[in-house]
Amino acid sequence: RQEKQEYREKIKKLLKEKNAVLVAHYYVDGDIQDLAEETGGCVADSLEMARFGRDNPAKTLVVAGVRFMGETAKILSPDKKILMPDLDACCSLDLGCPADEFAAFCDAHPDRTVVVYANTSAAVKARADWMATSSIGLEIVRHLHEEGKKILWGPDRHLGSYIQEQTGADMLLWQGSCLVHDEFKAAELYLLKQEHPGAKVLVHPESPASVVAQADVVGSTSQILNAAKTMDATTFIVATDKGIFHKMQQQIPGKTFIEAPTAGHGATCKSCAQCPWMAMNSLENLARTLETDKNEIFVDGETAKKAIVCIERMLDFSA
Ligand code: 13P
Ligand code: SF4
Repeated sequence: RQEKQEYREKIKKLLKEKNAVLVAHYYVDGDIQDLAEETGGCVADSLEMARFGRDNPAKTLVVAGVRFMGETAKILSPDKKILMPDLDACCSLDLGCPADEFAAFCDAHPDRTVVVYANTSAAVKARADWMATSSIGLEIVRHLHEEGKKILWGPDRHLGSYIQEQTGADMLLWQGSCLVHDEFKAAELYLLKQEHPGAKVLVHPESPASVVAQADVVGSTSQILNAAKTMDATTFIVATDKGIFHKMQQQIPGKTFIEAPTAGHGATCKSCAQCPWMAMNSLENLARTLETDKNEIFVDGETAKKAIVCIERMLDFSA
């Protein structure tokens, strides 16, 4: 506990000395989320993180999240120094969508508008017409569908199918998935709902269709948090990374939040839905990063020049 306190103080001091701002995702350690807010940074979903990083005047941003979030910040602000607590913090969607294979997929379907999820490498974004996050993907595809466009979507197949079903758009899907959300189980969720008949179900759209079908609200991390705040219910079953419970319990103390069941839930783990890459962000490596300036994110200039087009298109659309 004392060690934690020491790290917290050290990080605050270093952020101040370096005029650096901390941007954290809802899935990272609760102490890091608290520090981000206490020191003038933010805790947010991936769309808000991108906006905040672009608009904040600080010369150094420390991005506590996964690699694509750091890369997006760098592409939007090439003159800023972007640091991350662990450069190996990746994402199964990013890893499952190599840029060369994705480019070949796009080349085979030149008649389609390419929309990629934020959880991809800069090189994949460089091949895309649009980027989308979970909070805005539905609106972007609906807009493109209304313009008569056929879509090539990658990499998350569950989010892609959900959007396809909601909009009726013609979508060709890359078959990627999130290793955390893919584990939520529909039959167990159904049983849990019977145990809590008044509970509302909040689901991140990276979850399988059978889980999404049981949701009262489907949305990004911010949208899930907002639904928990505003909905007229006292109990919620939540299907997303357990990191979100920190903010939920902090901001909505009177309500009860229950983890949606995963395959191993109860049997092999009490609390299974945790992204191993988000969990790589710790107070210790955050302090070390600030001390040494070592984990800096770089994106090759040519790639960044191409990738920024689809990112800015999304930011302009969402403005
Ligand atoms: P959000 O855009 O909802 O923050 O999602 C990011 C993510 O990685 C979810 O797994
Ligand atoms: Fe990627 Fe899933 Fe982790 Fe989000 S939770 S960063 S989608 S692996």
